[in-house]
Amino acid sequence: MKDNSAVLFNDDWKFLLGDAENAHAVNFCDRAWKRVDLPHDWVISQPFFRGEEGGWTSQNMQGFFAWEGICWYRKEFTLEDISGKAVYLYFGGAYRNSTIFLNGKKAGGRASGYSSFEIDITDFVNDGKNIAAIRLDNGCEAPDRWYSGSGLFRNVYLKIVPFTRIKTWGVHVETVLSANKEYAEITVTAAIVSRDNRGCGIVCVSLLAPDGTCAAESSVSFDCVGKDETAVKQTLRIQNPLLWSAEKPDLYRAVVCLEKEGRAGETIETVFGIRAVEIAYNRGMTVNGEKVKLKGVCLHHDGGITGSAYYDAVWRRRLNVLKSIGCNAIRTSHNPPAEEFLDLCDELGFYVIDECFDKWKSGYYAEHFDTDAERDLTDFILRDRNHPSIVMWSVGNEVENQGADSMLEIQKKLTAIVHGLDSRPVTCALAPHANPRSLVNTPIEELVKLTKKLAKDVDILGLNYHEPLYEHYTKSIDKPIVGTECYEYYSSVGTNFEDVCDKNPWQFVLENDNVIGQFIWAGIDYLGESPWPAKGWTGSILDICGFMKPNAFFRKSIWTNEPFVYLAFYDQNKKPDYSRGRWSFPQLTSHLNHEHFLRRTVKAAVFTTCDEAELWINGKIMGRRKRIDFKNGIVEWTFEYTFGYIEVKGINGGKEVCNYILKTADKARKIKLISDNANLKAGEIAHIEVNVTDKNGILCPNEELIEFSLEGDAEFLGACSGDLTQSLGFTKTKVVTFEGRALAMIKAGASGGIIMLCAYSENLEKASLRFKVK
Ligand code: GAL
Repeated sequence: MKDNSAVLFNDDWKFLLGDAENAHAVNFCDRAWKRVDLPHDWVISQPFFRGEEGGWTSQNMQGFFAWEGICWYRKEFTLEDISGKAVYLYFGGAYRNSTIFLNGKKAGGRASGYSSFEIDITDFVNDGKNIAAIRLDNGCEAPDRWYSGSGLFRNVYLKIVPFTRIKTWGVHVETVLSANKEYAEITVTAAIVSRDNRGCGIVCVSLLAPDGTCAAESSVSFDCVGKDETAVKQTLRIQNPLLWSAEKPDLYRAVVCLEKEGRAGETIETVFGIRAVEIAYNRGMTVNGEKVKLKGVCLHHDGGITGSAYYDAVWRRRLNVLKSIGCNAIRTSHNPPAEEFLDLCDELGFYVIDECFDKWKSGYYAEHFDTDAERDLTDFILRDRNHPSIVMWSVGNEVENQGADSMLEIQKKLTAIVHGLDSRPVTCALAPHANPRSLVNTPIEELVKLTKKLAKDVDILGLNYHEPLYEHYTKSIDKPIVGTECYEYYSSVGTNFEDVCDKNPWQFVLENDNVIGQFIWAGIDYLGESPWPAKGWTGSILDICGFMKPNAFFRKSIWTNEPFVYLAFYDQNKKPDYSRGRWSFPQLTSHLNHEHFLRRTVKAAVFTTCDEAELWINGKIMGRRKRIDFKNGIVEWTFEYTFGYIEVKGINGGKEVCNYILKTADKARKIKLISDNANLKAGEIAHIEVNVTDKNGILCPNEELIEFSLEGDAEFLGACSGDLTQSLGFTKTKVVTFEGRALAMIKAGASGGIIMLCAYSENLEKASLRFKVK
């Protein structure tokens, strides 16, 4: 929400989990309800409930939380001087089936919990006191296939604007970079609406460069008399523009201001980037003329401890870790993300596949598809189309009846809707030979024929887990390919996606110019889609705390160039991974405290970007090995396991350029707390990494119960570890560390002052962290 007249409407709501008669009424007494601030996901603090066994159940899809229910939010607010003004409420997302009442009267609502929407409340509110009451119901249809969370889980805004105003999402910024990159033409269209059909004035546009200076200005008069909507278009030129790319995400701002009768009115600021993205059959993808392969991950929307409540700080931290392992692309599977998430992708530099739907007429959206899909998709494109990070749209994931006429018809219709609103290419994450299973082992020509039909109405052929067929599709289908979903380690064999081999899917991307990239399922462990006792998917690159798993270093070794080296052991004794087999990486641990390995030979995997690796065990050289000699570049070593000291060195051009050391930890003695926000400000979040160490500060890979206390004006948001089989939940003041680590989160209150976080454990010295909040 980029409208300067919009104010956050997040604080001081009253919340009830359950239904209540007359809760919409003005005089309803909500004194006993809980006070909450938004964003708010009520499910994350619910107890676990195992439910029925067998197959995919609502419970295992929703992470075994007691997730189902009706809830209410109420907020009293005061408006002053609103006569002659229009008033709107804007919801980033209200999960789901919202009914919104203002002063006792129904003013609007939305079935989809992920769509952003605005309701016009002008005719429902008065000068003085007003009451907003919102009823949500997540239980009337099938739940999502992943943890959805529930509630007003994104920002809500209040907007008070003149009768003549720029429509929400009404600013459209389109950029065209000249072939020699010497200038860019920026077209800014402002859609103006006027409630009384009387508005006329001037639309002023200033384009601000990344350093804040004005790069171009223009203004045009408008007249809405007698019209519902007026589009005012202006084209401006920026000389020698700074370009946006994932490597160097320079951002401009278009400030659009409506001037009426000589007075500046509503102002909308839109962030945009200037870049030329080209994706072509057999030529791949270029950004500003440079060849790019998408090194992508799929992400669901939950943030771990905070559930599906959207917090910038959570996603900034997580995206930065992904960036550090060379990830340059995100697929927002499989629903409209929070728009602030896309702001972060613009700012930090990620290429995004913005995905609107999962299944169409099966699954959680089935009952609304026919009535709502067109509107939800349209709103999604209008909301998101100015983001430079978005390089393509996706209209679905593994949808039902692939190749059937009914499916093709829907795909065609959805693609046409997108094309009508934006020039970027459209894809759909298809799995043409995965379903039905009878297609497995059918001749390649048959599969090519089927996939060709599916590819007809999309611009880019998006394929889930289809690597061995890329070469056949490339020959016969004149569309670029993107691996919308890939396993992280394995690829499927022939036509059977359940039969896998250890050729890494990235190799298929490198081998074929028509393949523009890959998106690993998944980038970060998420809640839901897991069998008991796991509360979430554990087969990703980062764990739910955002910590790098050993396999993250494999990713880093194939997606980056900076010298680094890392060693981990193949370890079948590691706590089980509850994702589905072929989605995970062979189990790895990286420490030197494995009792179960003693007197055994172990196999170690060395991940490095260097040409060679050299291994030293307790001061003795074991040898030097060339990366190129190993499959997927994973250097392997088999040796007798011993406690003590292991060093692996990265060698380039015969010289040591980096190293990685593992030392056996002594008895666990201390707790180390590390905050990511040393200058915590009022209202901000801090993530606190919790490490169990020995007396020398070496990490002990132990499971220790840690309890927290917090003093000062702050809220303890919760804690968790990478072990999703835990039963403590996410919002308690205690956690059991996994491999010696955990994460806690606090939020500073509004009044500032000193905050003191203490951590205790039965056998460890107490630790504390002090914050001076301004
Ligand atoms: C894919 C699906 C994803 C996720 C994944 C792991 O086929 O598109 O949403 O479910 O499998 O099971």
